Amino acid sequence: MTIPVAAPVRWFEQHQQAVAAAVAGVMSGGQYILGPRVDAFERAFAAFCACPHAVAVASGTDAITLGLRVLDAAGGEVITSAHTAVATVAAIERAGAIPVVADIDPVTHCLCPESVASVLSPRTRAIVAVHIFGHPADLRGLRAVTGSRAIGLVEDCAQAHGARIDGQPVGSFGMAGAFSFYPTKNIGALGDAGAIVTHDEQLARQLRQLRQYGWDETRCSQLHGQNSRMDEVQAAILALRLAEFPSAFLRRQQIAQRYNEALADHPQVLAPQTAPGATHAFHLYVVRTAQPEALAAHLLAQGVQSARHYATPIHRQPAYRDILRAQSLHNVERLYETMLSIPIYPELTDPEVDRICEALSRWRAGGK
Ligand SMILES: Cc1ncc(COP(=O)(O)O)c(C=O)c1O
Repeated sequence: MTIPVAAPVRWFEQHQQAVAAAVAGVMSGGQYILGPRVDAFERAFAAFCACPHAVAVASGTDAITLGLRVLDAAGGEVITSAHTAVATVAAIERAGAIPVVADIDPVTHCLCPESVASVLSPRTRAIVAVHIFGHPADLRGLRAVTGSRAIGLVEDCAQAHGARIDGQPVGSFGMAGAFSFYPTKNIGALGDAGAIVTHDEQLARQLRQLRQYGWDETRCSQLHGQNSRMDEVQAAILALRLAEFPSAFLRRQQIAQRYNEALADHPQVLAPQTAPGATHAFHLYVVRTAQPEALAAHLLAQGVQSARHYATPIHRQPAYRDILRAQSLHNVERLYETMLSIPIYPELTDPEVDRICEALSRWRAGGK
């Protein structure tokens, strides 16, 4: 059987009883949206991120959008990485801002501070730093280029639950940390869900209003809000996933270590690198090679599915190619010519990891 590149179904199958009990509890509880389970999950997730506040919302995209809204980014420019999920750029647009993309660091694949400096303008209101693939972005470097200017920082942590910089969890550095709980993420729900973490009580209060029509406690709209609420089923399942996160995180690290060892002396495949002080969450394990398509075909022949994250960079997709401009996206272009994602998720069995390691270490371009 082919090993899928992502398989959220495995966790749900392994936890069928706990999930069924959680859903039954919600049904009999009678409160289905923004109830006690959402409150409890918000408290637990805030603690997980070392932040005093977490606000549960309907998706990771909404988390970025609302984070930018409370930072007053509307009408200005927001800089982000040209190498991210389209969701990041779509969220900037939804917040009423103009997206501007910058190049990436060739090692971490996250925003390159020097490239950000080249697209900074008097209109820049915020930066969305994406911790792509689970590797933390260089937030110190970004702060250094923005200096004392009032530029907001939103961390896009959709792929980086558990990633750290010098031991501090991502999401807790910026004014807002936006998380996705899309089913394949490192903490995955049974549908769409997201959260924003922040140190700022005032921002948290505004976020709670914005996620529900701008309402205050009396259900009177003080702000122009939207509907972006988390439901109780997602919160109940996310509580289960958060409780077992330490072992899931460790398993990802162990699998990554096995792949690193298999690739240590490989002449044609480069393992992902981790910057000093960074803890990689290994949402994705992305290798680099001159012939990614040939490697993908070889892996498939050995029963291993792989993928390209992403198939096309955003600035070359039809909806965005006319509006996204930057000085140079050389490192993004280079990454897209060479990258391939190998399966990495805690439910991979040891024999599957062995098979992937063997397939990786055996491969030589051109069959040499
Ligand atoms: C980097 C990044 N940002 C944002 C998102 C958006 O999250 P969601 O799908 O929950 O809206 C995703 C998920 O696809 C992502 O990978």
